[in-house]
Amino acid sequence: MAKTKDYHVKDLKLATEGKRRILWADNNMPVLAQIRERFGKEKPLKGRRMSACLHVTAETANLARTLAAGGADLLLVASNPLSTQDDVAASLVKDFGVNVQAVKGEDRKTYYSHIQNACKHRPTVTMDDGADLVNALHGDMSDYGDSIVASMEETTTGVIRLRAMDDHGVLKFPVFAVNDAMTKHLFDNRYGTGQSSIDGIIRATDILMAGKTVVVIGYGWCGRGVATRAEGAGANVIICETDPIRALEAAMDGYRVMPTRQAAAIGDLFITVTGDIHVLDRAHFKKMKDGAIVCNSGHFNVELNLEALTEDAKKVNRGIRENVDEYILPDGRRLFVLGEGRLVNLACAEGHPAAVMDMSFATQALTTSHAIKQEGKLDVKVHGVPKKIDEEVAWLKLKSMGIKIDKLTSEQKKYLASFDMGT
Ligand code: ADE
Repeated sequence: MAKTKDYHVKDLKLATEGKRRILWADNNMPVLAQIRERFGKEKPLKGRRMSACLHVTAETANLARTLAAGGADLLLVASNPLSTQDDVAASLVKDFGVNVQAVKGEDRKTYYSHIQNACKHRPTVTMDDGADLVNALHGDMSDYGDSIVASMEETTTGVIRLRAMDDHGVLKFPVFAVNDAMTKHLFDNRYGTGQSSIDGIIRATDILMAGKTVVVIGYGWCGRGVATRAEGAGANVIICETDPIRALEAAMDGYRVMPTRQAAAIGDLFITVTGDIHVLDRAHFKKMKDGAIVCNSGHFNVELNLEALTEDAKKVNRGIRENVDEYILPDGRRLFVLGEGRLVNLACAEGHPAAVMDMSFATQALTTSHAIKQEGKLDVKVHGVPKKIDEEVAWLKLKSMGIKIDKLTSEQKKYLASFDMGT
């Protein structure tokens, strides 16, 4: 049981099922398990207060167990009101002694009160998925930020915000862009978002992907993953981009590329993964076909302009199926919005599979330990994850998958270091 009584979970009776899910996920998180064992012996986070604002899933539970094994006094809160797995939250409190404040579907006020409590915990290290904690610690909760050694950021959107803070000279403590580690974004963003977004769409709608025209808006690592998996399921994929290089890449990867306004009239299913606001707006909704399905897999629920859609709709039928809202427009067309425009993979499914979160969270744990070791020596800026950590996670993952790779011979190393040999 958690040592404090100030946890806030839906129902502790859900813990039995939550524990089952946590242990099932753990089967696919061998790298994190190894780090947990090491942390248990070495206690690199001993006596450290930590606050983490992450999606409260079975995978995050295994990260929380790892941080606690390392000696951290952790408070975990949700980074999205719809992504909490209530049974997992209950089990963390009851079975693993970790304090959690997160309830699926919590209202805005509760969501932010949990974040405020995470600040009042006076953490020395914070972990964010979307920079909400860091934001609070730079805003009305700034009194609680004095003891911070460093902060970890899990996602692209959060890193963009932190870089903007750094550029404006307002950043108050060192942060680590965990998202930018190779062992994170190349795998989690691409394969994790790819699979789990399609999973969320199928769980919510049960549609057949084969033969559908799927419009993916944004061709970063997440967009690439979604496009690949949609194509793999038989869809006809269109990519919309604003970046000329990414657009070119998408075209040469074999996709049709066009402006969103043009794609709006053709698509059966729209998935936004840009990290930007109102990517699908009034003008696009006006053009969409009857029955079009619209969802978002970017971090914040700002990519779909649902306020405009609500204003324009003559009727909104909420929950015509779990996680599906129907918007009926004045001309009779129906548009279906999934998961209230929040991350479809977490709102409508279980988020990324454990095997990929294994790498992301191993990188989080090792970078936290690194930051503590560097206490007082870190500049106030956005730091990259040290290459050594990235490579360690990759080696451990390869080993866990039973994969061996070649080593450079000394002749090859010498050749790579030379400028006059064998040209
Ligand atoms: N982000 C995406 N998928 C996730 C998961 N399964 N757990 C935690 N954070 C996530």
